[in-house]
Amino acid sequence: MTVRVIVGGWYGDEGKGKIVSSLSLHKQPDIVVRGGVGPNAGHTVVYNGNEYRLRQLPSGIPYERCRLLIGPGVLVNPEVLIDELRKTEIDPSRLGIDEQVGIIEQTHIEKDRRSSHLKEEIETTGTGCGPANAERAMRVLKTAKDIQKLERYVIDVPQTLWNAIEREEEIIVEGTQGTFLSLFHGTYPYVTSKDITASAICSDVGIGPTFVDEVTLVFKAFVTRVGAGPLKNELKKEEAKKRGWHEIASVTGRERRAAPFNFDLAVRAVKLNGATELALTKLDIVYPEEKGKNKWNALGEKAKKFVTQIENRTGVPVKIISTGPDVKDTIFR
Ligand code: IMP
Ligand code: MG
Repeated sequence: MTVRVIVGGWYGDEGKGKIVSSLSLHKQPDIVVRGGVGPNAGHTVVYNGNEYRLRQLPSGIPYERCRLLIGPGVLVNPEVLIDELRKTEIDPSRLGIDEQVGIIEQTHIEKDRRSSHLKEEIETTGTGCGPANAERAMRVLKTAKDIQKLERYVIDVPQTLWNAIEREEEIIVEGTQGTFLSLFHGTYPYVTSKDITASAICSDVGIGPTFVDEVTLVFKAFVTRVGAGPLKNELKKEEAKKRGWHEIASVTGRERRAAPFNFDLAVRAVKLNGATELALTKLDIVYPEEKGKNKWNALGEKAKKFVTQIENRTGVPVKIISTGPDVKDTIFR
């Protein structure tokens, strides 16, 4: 049984939601636990003909027998969370949130959207995460135990994870954003309000590094970035559109900037996260002929060569390849 941490290798939007949801069906974990910042994330999960854009719930929803937990390091907007419970129609008894989860209130959202520094210079998602984490650092932020409508979900998440590890259960720890949006390791000040590399995600949920068996680092087949900050080899919008790399952000509806796969950044992300394996998403966008394939041997030579090049440059095996949005469009090697 494995404790696996999933993190993004670029600037978020690598397709972590797709990878976690596919893995949840493939590995049938007992628990999928969310680390990361908070509702600034947007993880897209597509299965049974439905598409869900999750900002708070872990992306393990398709595998109905796993518990869905949110670690103490994460921020929760109770309205967003309750809305997701309603829309996904999951059994609410699957959900457990730690009593020390930080709470986002309307005032944090207003601060995020009214601050010219955050809104116009950094171009944040406007979801209140930065101002809430600032208040957490000041030790005045409310936590889940102060919020009556969350009472029925509150548990001790780290203890629940240690018990599961003791019983040798399968656990997926889901990170958010991407390596180069890390407050410490990213393109400061154009970053999010926390570290979000694998070590930080473990801390968010309450497991020490020696409990972790695999760190799965997710790269999209090209790089995208939403909001301000440097992006090496950025394509002109027309060129990105021509290649089919022009995307619209799932939380904010903003346009994403795009660039080709960056091997130097990939190598750096591998080190920062201690990656043991890689997942590659949107291979079908770069190589349309690969769409929907779910066997390695079915891939064409060009696509295989690209994957092999990533392995050679990073020294880490590509174990999961996504060839389309549905959980089934996935190659496990
Ligand atoms: P914040 O996290 O809302 O404070 O935004 C800080 C920076 O991180 C901005 O450039 C956002 O666009 C970016 N960001 C935050 N969360 C995500 C995400 O989930 N995907 C992509 N970019 C994100
Ligand atoms: Mg996203």
